[in-house]
Amino acid sequence: MNPNLEIDKFIEKSGPLDLSGIDWSKAKDQPLSQSELRCILYMLDIETYTIAYLRDLVNSKAIEQDSDMAEFIACWAYEEAFHSRALERFLREAGVELDPNRKRSYQRPERISETLKDLGAAILSRVFPDFTTVYLTWGAIQELTTLNGYNNVARKSKNKILVEVLRRIMRDEARHFGFYYNKAMRRLLDSPKAQRLTSLMVKTFWRPVGAGIKTDEDVAFIIAYAFGDEPGQKAVCHIDSTIAKLPGLEWFNRMQLYAKESCELFIEQAPWKVAEPSEQLS
Ligand SMILES: [Fe+2]
Ligand SMILES: [Fe+2]
Repeated sequence: MNPNLEIDKFIEKSGPLDLSGIDWSKAKDQPLSQSELRCILYMLDIETYTIAYLRDLVNSKAIEQDSDMAEFIACWAYEEAFHSRALERFLREAGVELDPNRKRSYQRPERISETLKDLGAAILSRVFPDFTTVYLTWGAIQELTTLNGYNNVARKSKNKILVEVLRRIMRDEARHFGFYYNKAMRRLLDSPKAQRLTSLMVKTFWRPVGAGIKTDEDVAFIIAYAFGDEPGQKAVCHIDSTIAKLPGLEWFNRMQLYAKESCELFIEQAPWKVAEPSEQLS
């Protein structure tokens, strides 16, 4: 097999998000529910925050150790920036007013623990060559959970324009996931040491996308909203079983644990009814 095939395939399909043909005038046709709006704002913040993960990757040894990574990261960050712009455009077209200072507040982690963790990871990646595998695995988990999050928010939405925007973003997220996952799989298969380090790091530090940037309550809310019904639960099991196929991560069931905890907080009547925030938050 041509060793460059994966990155060549990725770059061939890379580009700005195609929003052609979307009739933005219809964005207001179906008003967003309060829960839905909370989810989209969360997703917008996470997409914009990609810059922080990019900073971590650039500070790590990943680019030096793996020549494909430099090309991948450049295209990946470029594509993620368009996701953020697309969600922002949708919200504006839907009549949602966004705070113009919104972006400034999460350009850097606000929590000191996050900053220390980021610094620690950058240093560790220079000491342990296997740290690149940790980044790849981490990226695979984040992309897969994001993809499934979008899919389930889209599934529940009645707003056709939102569904179309999310479907187009999802195509990119699926490609991102594929790249991270296949690379992580190969590196983990090759190295029991990398398996042990990756397993330890994921077990110790992994939290759902947005944790550390958004409040714990926000994280739990979006998980409960996206995954708190039967199809959502199936998606959660699919995430866990896909990640558990990676060598060394056979134990991975974290999304089920987070989903269970989140649903217990927000679902008012078991099973599967997610309450609006106004009914739950005092
Ligand atoms: Fe994205
Ligand atoms: Fe992505």
